[in-house]
Amino acid sequence: MKLISIAVVTAVALAAAGIAQAQDGAALAQKSGCMTCHALDAKKMGPSFKDAAAKFKGKTDADVVAAIKASKPHASSKASDDDLKAVSKWILTL
Ligand code: HEC
Repeated sequence: MKLISIAVVTAVALAAAGIAQAQDGAALAQKSGCMTCHALDAKKMGPSFKDAAAKFKGKTDADVVAAIKASKPHASSKASDDDLKAVSKWILTL
């Protein structure tokens, strides 16, 4: 019985952490100005983040950061490396 409650508590905590991360990622993308040119699941000036997630399936957040930095439209982005990494992690979860 005790084991079951530990499992339940752990599952709930993990789920809550996942939700917190998703909200953080979305908020950070908003804060970093990404949503001016991107939307979650519709093409704007740039591809939707869901399309980006599909393109980078199996790749790492470092790959996404590198692609963002390598592409011209992002040259004026003032997002810090830490923020880019966090947003990239979030994109990969979409
Ligand atoms: C000024 C508009 C603009 C802003 C702001 C912007 N993007 Fe983009 N983004 C684009 C365009 C246009 C493309 C597609 C062309 C390209 O990749 O060069 C793109 C492509 C991407 C891609 C796909 C790259 C690839 O290789 O397929 C990712 C991931 C991405 N952006 C993430 C971000 C993140 C995260 C932010 C916020 C820190 C951001 N973008 C801010 C315009 C923008």
